[in-house]
Amino acid sequence: MCGIVGYIGKREAYAVLIKGLERLEYRGYDSAGIALLDKGVFSVYKKKGKVAELKNFIEQQGKKFPPLLYKERGQEVRSGIAHTRWATHGAPSDKNAHPQLSNSGEIAIVHNGIIENYLSIKEMLMKKGYKFKSDTDTEVLANLIEDIKKNAKVSIDEAVRLALLEVVGAYAILVLSKDEPDTIVVAKIGSPAVIGVGDNEFFVASDATPIIEYTDKVIYLEDREMAMIKGGALVIKTIDNETRNPYIQKTKMKIEELEKGGFPHFMLKEIFEQPRSIGDSMRGRINANEGTVKLGGIEKDKEKLLDAKRIIILACGTSFHAGLEAKYFFEELTKVPTVVEYASEFRYRNPVIYENDLVIAISQSGETADTLAAVKLAKEKGATIFGICNVVGSSISRIAHAGLYTHAGPEIGVASTKAFTAQIAVLMLMCLFIASEKKLLNKKKMIAILTELENIPKKVEQAFLAEAAIKKVAKKFKNTENFIYLGRGYGFPLALEGALKLKEISYIHAEGYASGEMKHGPIALVDDNMPVLFIANKGSSYEKIISNMMEVKARNGTIIAIITKGDTRAKKIADYSIEIPETSDIMLAFTASIPLQLLAYHIASLRGCGIDKPRNLAKSVTVE
Ligand code: AGP
Ligand code: GLU
Repeated sequence: MCGIVGYIGKREAYAVLIKGLERLEYRGYDSAGIALLDKGVFSVYKKKGKVAELKNFIEQQGKKFPPLLYKERGQEVRSGIAHTRWATHGAPSDKNAHPQLSNSGEIAIVHNGIIENYLSIKEMLMKKGYKFKSDTDTEVLANLIEDIKKNAKVSIDEAVRLALLEVVGAYAILVLSKDEPDTIVVAKIGSPAVIGVGDNEFFVASDATPIIEYTDKVIYLEDREMAMIKGGALVIKTIDNETRNPYIQKTKMKIEELEKGGFPHFMLKEIFEQPRSIGDSMRGRINANEGTVKLGGIEKDKEKLLDAKRIIILACGTSFHAGLEAKYFFEELTKVPTVVEYASEFRYRNPVIYENDLVIAISQSGETADTLAAVKLAKEKGATIFGICNVVGSSISRIAHAGLYTHAGPEIGVASTKAFTAQIAVLMLMCLFIASEKKLLNKKKMIAILTELENIPKKVEQAFLAEAAIKKVAKKFKNTENFIYLGRGYGFPLALEGALKLKEISYIHAEGYASGEMKHGPIALVDDNMPVLFIANKGSSYEKIISNMMEVKARNGTIIAIITKGDTRAKKIADYSIEIPETSDIMLAFTASIPLQLLAYHIASLRGCGIDKPRNLAKSVTVE
């Protein structure tokens, strides 16, 4: 999820910063930028695109205005900040890239995260005459800091602290002020920030990868902490002004390990990111105490949403499975008929589309060719298009009339995991918004559902506790040639998704099926060589699932069951059981996805498969 890099000390800052950005490229980004500060003069270079393009651009500038880079002028650039952006507010562009400057140009800031209340702060600042050059939430923070610094006549670190007391959201920020060239301020809530302590020099970054070639002494800032590096001294305090003792530790991690946050594969890192990514997909969009959902991205088109007589969901692969899951809660809660279509089929069958159809296009990349083509066709036929994408400014998000971003952060692993659960979360918010606006869910029910939803990240954490049991199952079945995944109701789309996960990274043939369909043919496949995985949570389909499990058992099938924690009945029937925490039916996908993803991962890992880049697959299928 993008990256920040900062430096202050005796080295030439440009070299440290540009290399630091290169170290952070693995995190995924759409733009990059650097601000160098030397004797009260800022030099800011920022562009949409890759770090290599930024580097080229800067060095070209150096040729045009020789010597642009201070080292040729004999002046050492002693401090600077840099950024790789993963856009959340404002499409990827040169103007929206960071560093963002305040109105007077005095303050430069780079930011990883989301300022939820940026609009209200922006309105306040505009009333005071502040002008904005970008569409980002970050520029608002830069001007808030400037406004406070100017009016309260305080130092840059105090202005940052006071500004952050007014901010709601997630951030890791680095701030420079022209007036205080020997100071860098860093602060964080929700996004990571690491300080590297060198010999009379300091490094700051989103993780230790840009730091460890210079020093192994690091300080991991905690939430609500901020650090001032001023005149070679480091002070840490909280934004509530409590002083903290810096806890310096030695990092032993190797660079490649660090890029994956210590995980062997991006996919595993992204599986374990889901408590954070699900939380981020809901950040600033729900108020559980009041039972309200606030969806900025669709407010202006809400009539289209509420007048829809039919919802058509278009997607491919895992995004299709997210749509299938959403069909169940859309129909249950909004009573609007919902059809889910493979985009690759929809686009060629001359589909019937009405003006009052609402099309929801789901796509992590926002670039899938089939989904893009299907959306264009639906739009030509007059349907209203809503996009649910993870990449800001992607093609599908741009041709949609409105939509919501999932804010899951870059998904590097080809097999989609955190994007899937983030899609479910955002679709559920859309569904609750419609149901509430149509008065189909009263305040009490909304509060109950949103309170459960708010606690889902904790339930996902609990689902990880079954990893040891999952590894045992993976070991047992790593050489099996076939698998059947069965589920009912909310469990059915998850059976399809679980089977897809196993197929695409372990290359084992796996089939997802509606459990009730088994007796119409597939049960002929069951024998003692056929492992059958049931999604057997204690939901509304529980009794039926138990009967299906008995049918498989009677035919010597081997049963693996994902069961609700403490369910001894299903446990007795299954040969292997994996427990997940109890949730309501509509929330099942958040917890059951974890064992489905981890089982596929561990089987593939035991088979030595190329997990992050499975054979024959691309992360985004941008061609037919
Ligand atoms: C899922 O693990 C696969 N990577 C694939 O099915 C993917 O979901 C599909 O290609 C759709 O991609 P999109 O969400 O970017 O449109
Ligand atoms: N919200 C900021 C923006 O959209 C920062 C996004 C990021 O984490 O890169 O510019």
